[in-house]
Amino acid sequence: MTLHDKFGRQITDLRISVTDRCNFRCVYCRSADPENYREHDEILSWVELERLALIFAGLGIQKMRITGGEPLVRDGVEKFLRKLNELRVPDISMTTNGHLLAERVPALLEAGLHRINISLDSLDPIKFEKITRTRSYDSVMRGIDAVQASALAPAKINAVLVRGFNEHEVEAFAAFARERGVIMRFIEFMPLDADRHWSRDLMVPADEVYRRIHAQWPLEQIPHAKSETARKYRFADGAPGEIGLIAPVTQPFCGHCSRIRLTADGKMRTCLFSKDDHDLRGLLRNDASDSEIEARIRALADQKEKGHRINEPGFVPPSRTMVFIGG
Ligand code: GTP
Ligand code: 5AD
Ligand code: SF4
Repeated sequence: MTLHDKFGRQITDLRISVTDRCNFRCVYCRSADPENYREHDEILSWVELERLALIFAGLGIQKMRITGGEPLVRDGVEKFLRKLNELRVPDISMTTNGHLLAERVPALLEAGLHRINISLDSLDPIKFEKITRTRSYDSVMRGIDAVQASALAPAKINAVLVRGFNEHEVEAFAAFARERGVIMRFIEFMPLDADRHWSRDLMVPADEVYRRIHAQWPLEQIPHAKSETARKYRFADGAPGEIGLIAPVTQPFCGHCSRIRLTADGKMRTCLFSKDDHDLRGLLRNDASDSEIEARIRALADQKEKGHRINEPGFVPPSRTMVFIGG
């Protein structure tokens, strides 16, 4: 059995946020001011998450990505990964800020993690602190080193470019990809930050990133699956590493989107930019049967939005910001 929406897109990817907590406060995501986290009992328990994962796997989900907040701040992630492996989900991945990663790599591998994406928004520790509002540069670098030395290599590194913060580092990041053999991805800043500071001027378009890297090290496009977020490039001179450009604002990829999301408090979101989310926790906690939950998921998937409306007049960002959606 597979999941489809009314536009004929097959839904094969589920992003599961396991916590709304995070040990960073990235400027493009969280507020500098304290935010209220959900109470513990509002967050799905591991048992509830395992039940939903089983149901989603039965609905043809092929890729499950664990996100947060920061997923590694919640105890028990490894055990959950093991359960996902028992379900024989073909692609199990995680997105992390890397702070707690270095020591966890062996356990994550042993638990069956297939792939890992790590955020790194600056190669300069001072700027890193300005963007993430933490002093974790060294621990994130150690996390990347640990991944590179493991079977999880090559690491996928995500940098959200924000003008005035890190746009000068495009070439340095590309050099980092070449030196370290990592997949370096540049992400356009989306209007999902808690402080609502997003403006088009703060976003660095992927075209600009391409031109700058290509001028220094010619790039060759490599094929990507239509539903993938990133356009992918290798270095024409044969250097190791790869470049990815993620351009949700200037080159939306919604037409081929295969993703749905589960928030830490048990809401299903059919789009990063959905106006509403849909409660599954209530069903879980009110003794709904698997087939009732399945029917609800199917009905919700069918209603998946055609696309985000960032570029349309009158666009209003969703009330949930990134940290509460789960990337
Ligand atoms: P891979 O499967 O490794 O390619 O991962 P991914 O790119 O899907 O996941 P990752 O968590 O690394 O996300 C990278 C960037 O893409 C983040 O800024 C995400 O918020 C953004 N992104 C992921 N999914 C979507 C989506 O459905 N819509 C939009 N607009 N952006 C997304
Ligand atoms: N715009 C684009 N990407 C964002 N991320 C967090 N907030 C934003 C935003 N406003 C990224 C993180 C991480 C992924 C889960 O989402 O950097 O790589
Ligand atoms: Fe935390 Fe990720 Fe948001 Fe940064 S982007 S504050 S690491 S959830």
